[in-house]
Amino acid sequence: MRLRDKTAVITGAGSGFGEGIAKRFVEEGAQVLVADINSPAAQRVAKEINAVACAVDVANDKSVQAMANFAIEAFGSIDILVNNAGVTHLNQPMLDVDEATFDQVYAVNVKSIYLTAKHIVPKLIETAGNIVNIASTAAISPRAGLTWYNGTKGAVVTLTKSMAIELAPHRVRVNAVNPVLGTTGLTARFMGGIDNSIIREKFISTIPLGRMSTPLDIANATLFLACHEADLVTGLCMEIDGGRCI
Ligand SMILES: NC(=O)c1ccc[n+]([C@@H]2O[C@H](COP(=O)([O-])OP(=O)(O)OC[C@H]3O[C@@H](n4cnc5c(N)ncnc54)[C@H](O)[C@@H]3O)[C@@H](O)[C@H]2O)c1
Repeated sequence: MRLRDKTAVITGAGSGFGEGIAKRFVEEGAQVLVADINSPAAQRVAKEINAVACAVDVANDKSVQAMANFAIEAFGSIDILVNNAGVTHLNQPMLDVDEATFDQVYAVNVKSIYLTAKHIVPKLIETAGNIVNIASTAAISPRAGLTWYNGTKGAVVTLTKSMAIELAPHRVRVNAVNPVLGTTGLTARFMGGIDNSIIREKFISTIPLGRMSTPLDIANATLFLACHEADLVTGLCMEIDGGRCI
């Protein structure tokens, strides 16, 4: 039980990687806040694993503040924050992405890290807790068609390292996981709106270990970074990518 007596706030936990992380954390003994803009999805996951659900828009200051207050009311303290909620624009030529979509992708993927820091870092300083940001291989090895999304994940990697340095004197660790393509709610958009076996095989051929990532792969990496086994690890942005970024 690597997270016994620990409490965790996981954003975007109503689906995909976040759902996998929430389930793995509960298996390891954590009390988990399943936070998502999709309230029924958050409730479904929380019910399955005996966790607490919370509706949140991670791009909205008041909503993130309410989530932080809710977590403190439910658990009394926060040990772990997983910034996982994310969106993408369709895989398409960069000049075809409209301004509203650009703003939304940056708000959900990047501004959210500022907002959760503002409202949750003071709580993590009290517990010498830690943050895991879910970035992407898109930050390390960007490809055409996802340019603006790739930029948000580059920002997440740089923010992870900068926050790690700034929060180290408070004994708050900050790390990131960089997943390769996995099967989640975002997969079809990453593939340009069409998810079929031909496109998947083409993508898989670029992954040396020969398969896409699963929520369990990402959950196991997040668990390692969040637990005491990684006590001396901070500022690490860890590829979980079957060798894709080599
Ligand atoms: N799926 C992949 O191939 C892949 C690869 C690398 C990185 N990622 C990253 O993994 C993270 C999780 O995405 P996923 O792939 O599991 O997709 P997903 O769509 O299955 O899950 C994302 C969750 O975030 C929630 N969400 C969206 N906007 C929100 C908001 N404003 N406030 C709160 N919650 C919000 C959604 O409702 C959804 O439940 C994202 O940050 C994504 O960029 C995904």
